[in-house]
Amino acid sequence: MLRVRCFRGGSRGAESAHFLAQKHISTTPRHRFLCSLTQGPHHLKPLQYHPFPFAPRGGFFTNRNSRISATISPIRRLASIAPPHQTPAQSEMGTDVENELDMFIERERDNSVHAESKERREPCPVNSYTEWDPLEEVIVGRAENACVPPFTVEVKANTSENYWNFFKENGGKSFPKEHLKHAVAQISELCRVLEGEGVTVRRPDIVDWSKPYSTPDFKSTGLYAAMPRDILLVVGDEIIEAPMAWRSRFFEYRAFRPLLLEYFRRGARWTTAPKPLMQDELYNKDYPVFSVKDRNALVEKGHFVTTEHEPCFDAADFIRAGRDIFAQRSQVTNNSGIEWMRRHLWPRFRVHKVSFRDPNPMHIDATFNIIGPGLVISNPDRPCKQIEMFKKAGWKTITPPDPLIPHDHPLWMSSRWLSINVLMLDEHRVLVEKEEQTTQKMFEKLGITPIPVSIRFANSLGGGFHCWTCDIRRRGGYASYFD
Ligand code: ALA
Repeated sequence: MLRVRCFRGGSRGAESAHFLAQKHISTTPRHRFLCSLTQGPHHLKPLQYHPFPFAPRGGFFTNRNSRISATISPIRRLASIAPPHQTPAQSEMGTDVENELDMFIERERDNSVHAESKERREPCPVNSYTEWDPLEEVIVGRAENACVPPFTVEVKANTSENYWNFFKENGGKSFPKEHLKHAVAQISELCRVLEGEGVTVRRPDIVDWSKPYSTPDFKSTGLYAAMPRDILLVVGDEIIEAPMAWRSRFFEYRAFRPLLLEYFRRGARWTTAPKPLMQDELYNKDYPVFSVKDRNALVEKGHFVTTEHEPCFDAADFIRAGRDIFAQRSQVTNNSGIEWMRRHLWPRFRVHKVSFRDPNPMHIDATFNIIGPGLVISNPDRPCKQIEMFKKAGWKTITPPDPLIPHDHPLWMSSRWLSINVLMLDEHRVLVEKEEQTTQKMFEKLGITPIPVSIRFANSLGGGFHCWTCDIRRRGGYASYFD
């Protein structure tokens, strides 16, 4: 049985202050202070109104003792201005009152931040904790100007040997123009469908990705802004820009910057993870991939093309289920990258490292795609090594049918398992490829309505619906689905 815990205090904070005041203290200044807290957020300015010290991250509900004491100390000082009017009986009650006051302040602080955004500002435009809460706003990528990446070792390690000549011959040039035209049209249709379903669609800038660039350490040309999922991870009200691991993706963030600036100005938190230098030391230059068979053997032994020289990760190696986020070590996400995320998000979020029997791990969302509370599509070719952990937590695993995409359809940068790379509009609606009828049936059996859209040409650039999008806002809040 899956247990879901919600973590919001709500108006009970105010009620409990009245309760406390009546129960423990008569008419002391402390009582007045407690009552003043209940009279509305305007009494708390400026102390409680500063959004940063009271922003509800930092784990009000976990590791309570250490976190809270630091942030509430100004209020506690204010509360203790009240002293010696207490009777002895009242001071005996002190510890209980202190404890209850602590709990009250936690809830009140949380409420006041939200009251402030309601009163003074629009709600935060960024809010997404899961892969399935009702979708309100999404970034959809662009196929425009997509450029074949130079054939570097990290590209070789992530692509099929069938395309190695294609990369060698076309690195730095446009992907086939006619193909891109179809992809652009399909993605416009995808945007139209999303808007028809009531979702606000935002797009990155159109950028010339063929422009050569150099850093002190390397030269490259770019790739595209087709897959916002690869570069952006939204966790609550924070957008995290992933550092990436391919040199051709070093400047990919530039296409998204106008949107991120806008979200920041409207109240979102915005973090850029440490940018790797992408020097030679980040790559195992001798990664002996003469064939895909060599590579499979290396991955099985835990050897990847990226080293641990500095943290790197793609956002698409992380998948969210409220308080718990699951991440895989892949060809583009190293252990230091996962560790950076774990420390950054702790203690409010728990990042779990998971692994799969996958000969070529790159992005978790065609391997282990979470589609509902305790509901995950698990790729049968890439079984999860920690599946017992999920079963224990009451999760249900769905085994999808084989993909139907023709074997000769160009897939320059992905497997055929894009069939399960779906986007949930909410728990009951999902975007699925029009030609993947068996996957659509799987969803119908689960009571989920498939919305068919055709993105076969767009698939060729390496992603399905989940990769092509990044959900910026979903209705819903912080909860635990993995206790
Ligand atoms: N890289 C992922 C796959 O092809 C999307 O399965």
